[in-house]
Order: sequence, then C-alpha cells, then structure tokens
Amino acid sequence: FDLTCIDKYLYSMRFSDETLHDIKCRFRRELENGLGRDTNTTATVKMLPTFVRSIPDGSEKGDFLALDLGGSNFRILRVKVTQDKKQPVQMESLVYETPEDIIHGSGTQLFDHVAECLGDFMEKQKIKDKKLPVGFTFSFPCAQTKLDEAVLVTWTKKFKVSGVEGMDVVKLLNKAIKKRGDYEADIMAVVNDTTGTMMTCGFDDQRCEVGIIIGTGTNACYMEELRHIDLVEGDEGRMCINTEWGAFGDDGSLEDLRTEFDREIDRGSLNPGKQLFEKMASGMFMGELVRLILVKMAKEGLLFEGRITPELLTKGKIETKHVSAIEKSKEGLTKCKEILTRLGVEPSQEDCVAVQHVCTIVSFRSANLIAATLGGILTRLKDNKGVARLRTTVGIDGSMYKMHPQYARRLHKTVRRLVPDSDVRFLLSESGSAKGAAMVTAVAYRLADQTQ
Ligand code: BG6
Ligand code: GLC
Repeated sequence: FDLTCIDKYLYSMRFSDETLHDIKCRFRRELENGLGRDTNTTATVKMLPTFVRSIPDGSEKGDFLALDLGGSNFRILRVKVTQDKKQPVQMESLVYETPEDIIHGSGTQLFDHVAECLGDFMEKQKIKDKKLPVGFTFSFPCAQTKLDEAVLVTWTKKFKVSGVEGMDVVKLLNKAIKKRGDYEADIMAVVNDTTGTMMTCGFDDQRCEVGIIIGTGTNACYMEELRHIDLVEGDEGRMCINTEWGAFGDDGSLEDLRTEFDREIDRGSLNPGKQLFEKMASGMFMGELVRLILVKMAKEGLLFEGRITPELLTKGKIETKHVSAIEKSKEGLTKCKEILTRLGVEPSQEDCVAVQHVCTIVSFRSANLIAATLGGILTRLKDNKGVARLRTTVGIDGSMYKMHPQYARRLHKTVRRLVPDSDVRFLLSESGSAKGAAMVTAVAYRLADQTQ
C-alpha cells in the first residue's frame, strides 16, 4: 500500500512551514485586535482579562477548597499550602459525575448539583462547619472585572446549560449554596483552566508565563503588559490574559484551511459556526474527524474493499483515545486492527497501515495548528520584553497532550522551528489546574484580610 496516496488525498490537512508561519502571523494580529479598546468588542479572539497579576512567589499559604469544572472530569479538591520545604502543597480530591442531563439542563440544576457535590466533599472531609476560601476553575470564557466575578460569555465544548450565559457564575453558585443552608463557602476567585495551569506550573518554575490546555477543548493564556490592555486601568506590571483561542477563525479567517470534514463536524455540533479553531485542533473532535475521513475513503473504495457498516457510520464510534492507541509505535497496528474489527469492517493489514497514517495526519495537524498559535504568543512575549532571544516556560495540561504518544514531541519540535530565537521549556502540569486556583485564592485571601 502506497502511503503517499493518502498524503495526496489529505493534502489539505498537511501544512507547510510557510502556511504555519502564516497562521502564526494571522493569530498574532488577532491577539492585538482583542487587546485594543476599539476593536475588542467585536474581536473573535476575546483576550479576556483575568485579574491575575503575578505567578506564585512562594509566600502563599492556607487551607483551600477548589472546584474544577469544564474539562473531562468534575473534581473537588482540598488544597493545603504550607511553607514546608519538602511538601509545600497537599491535595486530596474526589471526582464527581456530571450527567448528560445536567450539562444540557438548566442553570439551577447545574449549580444545585455543584453545591450538592461540594457539600458531600466537605462532609467527607469533616469540614462542613468551616467557612473555607474556595477557588473555582471554570473552564469557559468569562468576562471578569474582578477575581470573584465571572460572567459567562458563551458555553463551549460539551456544555449547553440554559440561563447561565450573561450571568455571574459566582452569584449562581452562592445562591445554590445559600438555598441549601447546610454549609457556608467563600468563593474568592474564578480562574480559567489555562490560568490555573499556568499558576500550577508557575509554583515550580517562576519563569512560567504561558498556560495551555489541549484536552476536550483547547485554549491558552499568557502574561501581557498592563499598558497594552486597554480594558483595564493602570500601566504598571502585567496581567494574565485568557485568549480563548478556540474561537480563532469564527470570523472566516481560517476558511482557506478548513476541510469538508471540519465543516461536517461543525454542522453536527452544539455550537455551529463557533470555536472553529478548537474543532480543528482539540481532543473532543479528533476521533470524529478520523471517522469522517474513513467513511469517505471507504465509500470511494479506498479502504475496507468499500465495506461500510452501521458502526462506521455512527457518530462518536471512533474516539480520541482510539487515535492515541492507533498511533502507539509498537502495538499501534494491533490496536488499529482491534478497533476497526469492532466497527465490523474486516480490515486487511494494508487497511490498518492506511488508517494509522490517517490518524497521524489528523493529530499532526492539531499539533501544527497549536504550534502556530503558540508561536504567535511567544513572538508577542519576545517583542514585549524587547529581547533578542526569549527564554520562557509554558505550562501545559489536557488529555490530548498527556495521552497521545507522539503529540507532545511533535508540538515542541514545531514550536522550536517556528520560533527559532527562543528557549522554551514545556512543563506538564502534574497536579491539574486546582493547585493553581488555590494559589490565586491564597493571594486574594491575603489581600482581603489586609483590607479588613
Ligand atoms: C485538568 C485540569 O488536568 O485538565 C482541568 O485540572 C482542565 O482544569 C483539564 O480543564 C483539561 O483537559 P481535559 O482533557 O480534561 O479536557
Ligand atoms: C474551551 C473553553 C476555554 C477552555 C478550553 C480548555 O475552549 O472555551 O475556556 O480553557 O476549552 O478547557
């Protein structure tokens, strides 16, 4: 079987470095657009101020609760931060279900559920009589004018809950807690998961000034000079900006790069026309992209001797974790055979090799796209600092980055090629975004204490 056939077939998904440089420049313009006073209201890449002004400096301490909602798991944590050199942070956590009817239900149901889980967690921790400060990682675009207020701009990914867009999620959660009346909680900070990740990694590496998620969704934040953020008062210092790069392309600026498969994914999604970059690059759609390509190839007789089964035609039957398994260097082909056999297509050895190659092209495109947008952020940071060579750390989290066997290596390599005048350290966030959310909460708590 000649793999160059597939290369040709999926030509529009394989980007040259020239195209990647072009995407990097386009994204750089989006960043600037979102920061400007006159342009930000209509900007596609929203560039939301987070009111987080510095990365952890090691002075944080206290006993905190953290909620982590919006990724593939809903987690509640207790984070104790001490000045102990050996083990400064202790965490205990529980994962709670977020059933389908809740993520597609009403706001009241969602926040009642969150409040119920928090109550259960406090009960298990035997702290229901305490009023601990809470940090809330809420992984959706929110407009903030302070740390403890976050107005949901729009739902993304798998969530579509009625009556929450345009509302402050802190108020909604407080209301749900008050209604129960069996415990109290002090929600001090709402952070996006990118910000949480940057802060988690910043605790270990002071140079960390970018946070990225490549999971169900994809997004990034970075530390911008305050004098460039028109929306926020003040010129001194920096503030973390949540770019919401998932929406890149929603104004049509990526149309030349989107394929028929991307359009089909978008048409069948909860939010057609929205989050177009995210739909090309994040984990939520990777398996489905592969499936759509396989269906087309099979219909044209290029795979499975033209056999098409109801399973192959079923949305969601190929998941991102399958793409990761298929691309494993040793057992990949065996896994591929198993997965395709389960779809009933009776694959030959050649079919398996071909499907593996399709997976590589799709996941490589994702790493390339994210390398390009990250490249845009890095060149911006470099120009802001006015240095000839940028030395920085990027904190990263998300299942796609963590689980896919080749993804991280490909991403790092492409970033280094696209931003040659830089030394970038990629730091995997081992303990999730909640640790970072607790750091932000610690600072907020200390400041609130001082002003009382
Ligand atoms: C987790 C973070 O580790 O990764 C979450 O704690 C984040 O805040 C998540 O949303 C993103 O990855 P995924 O794959 O769960 O969407
Ligand atoms: C989506 C959300 C964004 C989040 C990202 C990763 O893009 O809009 O806020 O950071 O997913 O979870």
